[in-house]
Amino acid sequence: MTPTIPLPPKSAAALLAAFLVGLYPAALLVRRYLLPPTPPPTPAPKRTTIMQPARTDLDPPKDDPYTLAQLAEFSGSDPSKPIYISIKGTVFDVSRNTAVYGPGGSYALFAGKDASRGLGMSSLKAEDAIPDYAGLADKDRKVLDDWHAFFEKRYNIVGKVIDHPTVLAEQREAEKANL
Ligand code: HEM
Repeated sequence: MTPTIPLPPKSAAALLAAFLVGLYPAALLVRRYLLPPTPPPTPAPKRTTIMQPARTDLDPPKDDPYTLAQLAEFSGSDPSKPIYISIKGTVFDVSRNTAVYGPGGSYALFAGKDASRGLGMSSLKAEDAIPDYAGLADKDRKVLDDWHAFFEKRYNIVGKVIDHPTVLAEQREAEKANL
């Protein structure tokens, strides 16, 4: 029987190093040619907004007339009635978002009102929650129009405000210009 001669520690380390150096490229080759390719990670669905998406099930718009006083009856304080919000005189039914617009909701101050001025100014102050948006700067008018477009895509239009000061003034201006 030939006795096994233990390798001196230095050559054991050299052998291990050689093995690892050989093993690494071998592993790479196996991964490259023998294993099925790893699929690229699926990108998370892109959400550009945290707000609710546009609806595809809206009803055709209605143009039932409401005075601002009548609109106030749809503020959510009577749970048997829907909640309405008007923007530039367009009345939207926001009842399906009671958590936001109902009593105690973050945007309850807009309910039962036309708060066009506050929406344009991005203000949640009660004194700004008024229909008159005549004095808004151009950039705030743009914000207001964007809100109108946002609501149009998400809520049913149930009517229009017939005594909106700014809408009526703008209609008169337009009529004058067409004379
Ligand atoms: C710190 C400031 C604010 C934060 C963190 C905030 C947050 C939010 C969030 C998270 C939503 C989506 C709610 C949902 O899930 O429906 C939302 C919607 C909305 N925000 Fe704000 N907001 C802020 C300021 C304002 C201001 C100043 C206004 C006033 C014009 C405003 C008006 C609205 C309106 C009208 C909606 C639409 C709600 C809907 O019908 O879907 N927000 N906001």
